[in-house]
Amino acid sequence: MIRVDIPNLLTRSTLLALTACGSTAGASEAATPESSGLDASADLDGGGSSTEPADTTGAVPATVTYYEQLKPIFDARCVACHQEGGIGPFSLTNYEDAAIWAGAAAAAVHGGTMPPWPPEAACNDYVGERDLSEDQIALLDTWIAEQTPMGDPALEGAPLQDADPGLTRVDLAIDMPEAYTPVNAPDDYRCFVMDWPAEYTTTQYVTGFRAVPGNDAIVHHVIAYLVTPDQVDAYADLDAADPGVGYTCFGGTGGPSRSWLGGWAPGGAGSDLPPGLGLEVPAGSQVVLQVHYNTTSSDPAPDVTGVEFKLEDQVDKIARVLPFANPQWITGNGMLIEAGDDDVMHEFQRDLSMLLGPQQVWAGGLHMHTKGTSAKLSIERASGDSECVLQIDAWDFHWQGSYGLLDPMLLSTGDELRLECHFDNSAAKQPVVDGVPAEPKDVYWGEGTDDEMCLGIVLIAPA
Ligand code: HEC
Repeated sequence: MIRVDIPNLLTRSTLLALTACGSTAGASEAATPESSGLDASADLDGGGSSTEPADTTGAVPATVTYYEQLKPIFDARCVACHQEGGIGPFSLTNYEDAAIWAGAAAAAVHGGTMPPWPPEAACNDYVGERDLSEDQIALLDTWIAEQTPMGDPALEGAPLQDADPGLTRVDLAIDMPEAYTPVNAPDDYRCFVMDWPAEYTTTQYVTGFRAVPGNDAIVHHVIAYLVTPDQVDAYADLDAADPGVGYTCFGGTGGPSRSWLGGWAPGGAGSDLPPGLGLEVPAGSQVVLQVHYNTTSSDPAPDVTGVEFKLEDQVDKIARVLPFANPQWITGNGMLIEAGDDDVMHEFQRDLSMLLGPQQVWAGGLHMHTKGTSAKLSIERASGDSECVLQIDAWDFHWQGSYGLLDPMLLSTGDELRLECHFDNSAAKQPVVDGVPAEPKDVYWGEGTDDEMCLGIVLIAPA
């Protein structure tokens, strides 16, 4: 049996996990609108020195205003993170803030750093894509060139159609059993065992998921794993072996579960599964919640994170999350990433139809640890064509996600699922402990921080 955990996030829309980069103190200060907020210069962060108020009396009427064109874009693409209490370092929820940050926003958007969206655009189209289109970027540029006019609130543009609806109904909410305060800095990965309510005496199907972080400032991603009744004892042992609530875990749950029920990361509003699909949860199950705490920019503080599920008694198709990797990587030392090598490639491909029959692929995810640099998941057709499911060229462990495909892909007999991962194990890529970079050493597959993984993850359902 292939025993891999699925340390990843897979739902229909994007789930992004990120680390707070650098100090945000300066940003918060600068984000305070001046009393004359409406006059804020768009050039604050762009090195320009203009503090001229916007010319609202000029003869040339503005062609692009905040309310008519920009607000719908900010709302759909930015405010999930850039709002009070959100993970973004400043708010973009109103005109004053948007005008103050306009120059910086344009720089970040042109530079490709914002909104955060790891998949390569050329690979496929995804649900809830955050990248701005060229037209949207042009609107932002024009708005800035016209000195960020506010426009008339009565003329506010309609919300962008593709704005992510998030989780549409909550049927069950479960919290961590007790508060936990992270002890490992800056990253603490902790697993919490929670009972599936005994009231559910029949199999339920999870059709949507969201996590509700207890402490937004330190919770960086949350993954819920299904523990089936036969696995309950193994998790009781893991929990008992580590003092305090929960137990330490990194690349997975450390136990036999390889089924996720959902994942969440900052900016995520949760999501429903595609219509008609559900993930099976037998009565008597448990849920293990893996929470990644990051205390880079906030002090450790108690957290009680909860999860919310949308449930059905019956679904059209039982979906499953398939972790995909070469079984030989996992057993023994099959996935050598040699010390000192700055581009180690591992690849694997297989026709899964004999095992599963024809399937539709609804979402794709990739998982590596911190030495991963790029990865790609594709379908190699029997015809010889190659179709990209997901490609990430700048891998960042803190930005793991999974991406729902706008159009599901058919995986039929003769087609092979293909996975390719690249790793950098050179001196430059080693962790720094007390200011001293570690010596490169050979790395293999494993769940620990010093181990690696190369995992493709697909949400599939019978075609
Ligand atoms: C998924 C969360 C998320 C979304 C969505 C998002 N941001 Fe950010 N943003 C952050 C975080 C977190 C930071 C802090 C720096 C970092 O971690 O990269 C940041 C930083 C910034 C910065 C500071 C400069 C920089 O590049 O780091 C700007 C400007 C910015 N965001 C603009 C935007 C704009 C404009 C949008 C929408 C078009 C947007 N962001 C969407 C999370 C987000």
